[in-house]
Amino acid sequence: MCGIVGYVGHRDCSDVLVKALTGLEYRGYDSAGIAVFENQKISVAKSKGKLKDLVDKMKVEGRPKGFAGIGHTRWATHGEPSDINSHPHSGAKVTLVHNGIIENYKELKEFLQKQGRVFLSDTDTEVAAQLLDYYYSHIKEPVKAIIETTQELKGSYALGIVFEDFPNRVFAVRRESPLIVGVGKSENFIASDVPAIIEYTKDYYLLEQDEIAILDENGVRVFDNHYQPVVKELKTADWDVDAVGKCGYPHYMIKEINEQPTAIKNTVTPRVKDGMPCLDECNINPEVLRKIKNIYIVACGSAMHSGMVGKYVIEEIARTAVTVDIASEFRYRNPIIGKGDLIIIVSQSGETADSLAAMRLAKEKGAKTLAIVNAMGSTIAREADMLIYTHAGPEISVASTKAYMVQLSVMYLFAFELAFAKGQIDEEKYKYYTAKLLETPEMVEKVIAQTTEISQKISMKLLTADSLLYIGRGLDYALSMEGSLKLKEISYIHSESYAAGELKHGTISLITKDMPVIAVATQSALYEKTVSNIKEVKARGAKVIMICQDGNDVPKDIADYVLKIPTFEEILLPMLVCVPLQLIAYYTSVQKGNDVDQPRNLAKSVTVE
Ligand code: M6R
Repeated sequence: MCGIVGYVGHRDCSDVLVKALTGLEYRGYDSAGIAVFENQKISVAKSKGKLKDLVDKMKVEGRPKGFAGIGHTRWATHGEPSDINSHPHSGAKVTLVHNGIIENYKELKEFLQKQGRVFLSDTDTEVAAQLLDYYYSHIKEPVKAIIETTQELKGSYALGIVFEDFPNRVFAVRRESPLIVGVGKSENFIASDVPAIIEYTKDYYLLEQDEIAILDENGVRVFDNHYQPVVKELKTADWDVDAVGKCGYPHYMIKEINEQPTAIKNTVTPRVKDGMPCLDECNINPEVLRKIKNIYIVACGSAMHSGMVGKYVIEEIARTAVTVDIASEFRYRNPIIGKGDLIIIVSQSGETADSLAAMRLAKEKGAKTLAIVNAMGSTIAREADMLIYTHAGPEISVASTKAYMVQLSVMYLFAFELAFAKGQIDEEKYKYYTAKLLETPEMVEKVIAQTTEISQKISMKLLTADSLLYIGRGLDYALSMEGSLKLKEISYIHSESYAAGELKHGTISLITKDMPVIAVATQSALYEKTVSNIKEVKARGAKVIMICQDGNDVPKDIADYVLKIPTFEEILLPMLVCVPLQLIAYYTSVQKGNDVDQPRNLAKSVTVE
């Protein structure tokens, strides 16, 4: 989604803005632009395409020179990606950049057109710029004009604003969309996320709903929407530039796959005391857990898939029913939830619009909410009743890997604690499972080493496929969903995950000669059943890639490739098997020459519906 930056200080502003926007590239975008104070005037440069296109354009047309300004990467919502629709947008005295959606832009545009205002672009953002300019032309005071404007705007927005009459000052305001204010030495920043500013400062304020910030090189002032000063708590990012760099890896995705052992360690180890999970710091304890009636896990994409694995694990060992729901469905289907129910919202970014709305709905209906979130201080993290942070560090690649992995690890911690609290497992089993979970970082490391080469080989066989299937039963099926999503989002090859036992009720008709089928068969209790399903697809010409445990006896001629993973505690195997699934997707994308980290049409943080 769109990324916003702003800078005031002593450095070359264009340079800082472009670098800061590079730190937000992971969010996905299709155009970019900056506005800089140059000799007391606002000078704008913008271009369709990537930041490189903007930089190239500025090389030819000249680049704004100055010490304060705003910048933007746009992920098109209203109007196609084009130079004209790129941000910044301006009125007579006001120029701004925007992340979010102005829902009532049509009515506002009509009103402004009646006032004689002319629009150049198709965007909702230009309406916000013109409206602010309209109020400013009457009120002549920037903060009051911002307050008047935001009272009219419906929807979500984070705005970075410059007023021509206030050179070398940057204004910002937000509702629903995230925005931080970076605090440096004689320089200050605004940004959608910390990676934009980490090269310059680790200190930042989180701007709350409707707060307005004014930045100049000497400091930052924050006001509420009654123009009253607000005292903010300074936060410090606990990671450094390396965390957002590629550190010698060709892509963020492969770096992040390799960071998984550390991410699990950072997430699990601090939550284990005396050999047992302890989630007290997250306000979760046996008393709270025993009161839970129904559990819903609500999320989007990979985060939702971690919930699918969570469902199988929680139901299996804690004997508590779990419903997994897609957030965009849950929020609009008047779900039957209330007091006593627990809604678990899973999100890497903590800003996903549908997941946030689902959580707010659950709260309205009186259910308790537990957020499993990676991004510190994000909206979902702040609004949930209970919170478990995953500690994956910043995930830059659009395709989630380490964030999904640590979401799985938290699902296990939660399941073990719930099972013990409900008397479904005794202390011995509880400690045994926990000990095994603590072994997973080492096991994941081993699996990365053992399966990289074969995953690379397998990916070569997928390059010409139009479509493929992932099949499995039980936990293997839950995991296949993630494998399939990973492959399609970065390789652009169509794939579906299917419950192996359901194939013959329709989907098996899709199997034709040489269609790849990735069959996951790691669960002993279901092994023979899955093998039968594999035989069925093989008999119809499928090219089978089978993933199973080291010790499994694979019948002759049922698979073209067998990828074996070390034998381990079966309930935890999804944490190991997801590694080759990630690697297969990664190498397929690399070999197809795709943009691995920023796949087409996708954004990392989906802050609009
Ligand atoms: O930030 P979130 O975890 O809420 O994001 C949810 C999905 O958008 C995300 O998992 C998406 O599916 C990933 N691109 C998958 O790799």
